[in-house]
Amino acid sequence: MRSIRAVRDGPAAISFQGECQRAGAVINNKTRIQNMLSWDDYNQTEPNKGKTHPQPAPEPQPAPAVQEPVATYSAQSPASAPTADQKPAGSAIEAARSAVASIDSAPGLEELEMGAARVQVDEKRIINCRADLNQLVPFKYDWAWQKYLDGCANHWMPQEVNMTKDISMWKDPEGLSADERRIVEYSLGYFSTADSLVANNLVLAIYRHITNPECRQYLLRQSFEEAIHTHAYQYCVESLGMDEGEVFNMYREIPAVAKKASWSLSHTAAISNPNFRTGTTESDQELLRNLIAFYAVTEGIFFYCGFTQILSMGRRNKMTGVAEQFQYILRDESMHLNFGIDVINQIKLENPHLWTDAFQAEVTQMILEGMELEVAYARDTMPHGVLGMNAQMMEEYLNFIANRRLVQLGLKEQFPGAQNPFPWMSEIMDLRKEKNFFETRVIEYQTGGALQW
Ligand SMILES: [Fe+2]
Ligand SMILES: [Fe+2]
Repeated sequence: MRSIRAVRDGPAAISFQGECQRAGAVINNKTRIQNMLSWDDYNQTEPNKGKTHPQPAPEPQPAPAVQEPVATYSAQSPASAPTADQKPAGSAIEAARSAVASIDSAPGLEELEMGAARVQVDEKRIINCRADLNQLVPFKYDWAWQKYLDGCANHWMPQEVNMTKDISMWKDPEGLSADERRIVEYSLGYFSTADSLVANNLVLAIYRHITNPECRQYLLRQSFEEAIHTHAYQYCVESLGMDEGEVFNMYREIPAVAKKASWSLSHTAAISNPNFRTGTTESDQELLRNLIAFYAVTEGIFFYCGFTQILSMGRRNKMTGVAEQFQYILRDESMHLNFGIDVINQIKLENPHLWTDAFQAEVTQMILEGMELEVAYARDTMPHGVLGMNAQMMEEYLNFIANRRLVQLGLKEQFPGAQNPFPWMSEIMDLRKEKNFFETRVIEYQTGGALQW
């Protein structure tokens, strides 16, 4: 079983799949060539025409009128659909042509105050913007577009990481200690669903309220990256032969994991309501709460204990495939966090009335709640010292992280003098992608020279 998984999950699997695809392409091409009619064949099948110059095949005649009623579809509202008299009899293509000819392009633009006008940069705003959201340019927020380009240039896929050594280590009773095993299980348990919560929040809650096309472009990129992350965790769980039901239900069944997940979910409820609209102080603050809960706390605090634990494992040459997956995810996540902080600060800048003293106190408490939940998670996942760290060191690190988040949002530090006991984490986050941190392989991920490192 081990060897089957190793072969399937390793580079050999990709290579084998590639061979199959190439073989399929060859077969298809051969079939296509065999099915092609040469002029000689044509002359043989049409002897009368073959005696002179080759003639083009006659135009196919329209099919006789179909007796059954043909279903027709109109792109317009029922009121503008052709009446029974206008409907072309018996031809679906004619019905389609008729529907297309009667399209009125105005209704699609009616919600925009500027209508069909060209968008001016000054009209663009992160929230409550009434300018046309389909016009990506001219750019106002270059940082958002740049992050979109950087995200694309960082593209990676979970199957590119070789999991063979991890599988051997996981199956070997002596491969990992019980404390190390616990860390792998909890990390995959939390993250396998956490990224789905983030993705759902992006597409079902945040997206429609962010009224800026360059930011939306990044949100779409981020959404795909969250899908890749969930894929990566699933890939790890499957490769290691873990109980999938157990892992994917930890966010409901294991208190240390469930509390973090439910805290995030509690902040998505209001704005994912289809009736929620921004535009008032209360509703705009509710959107800010969501952005802070997901970008600054979920992605900016809740991910840090698990990432530090798994990456510390990789630094000790254990579970290097899982650690490599986490390394690429962390690089993406640090960009998600930075994008979120930029969006939040830009909303504050454009809407200073939202950032009241009372709201600042509330945001500070949100950051501290997130930190407390992560400290509790650290204690649950590290009942003993493991991998050169313990829960107390993690608490200090989380104090340091909480300070960073507060300062990034323009708020006061709550843990003066807190130090970072894991400076190597920053090195990993800033890592250039050409060379793998664990040196298990060297990869060139840049596409099209999009980035200059
Ligand atoms: Fe993610
Ligand atoms: Fe993320």
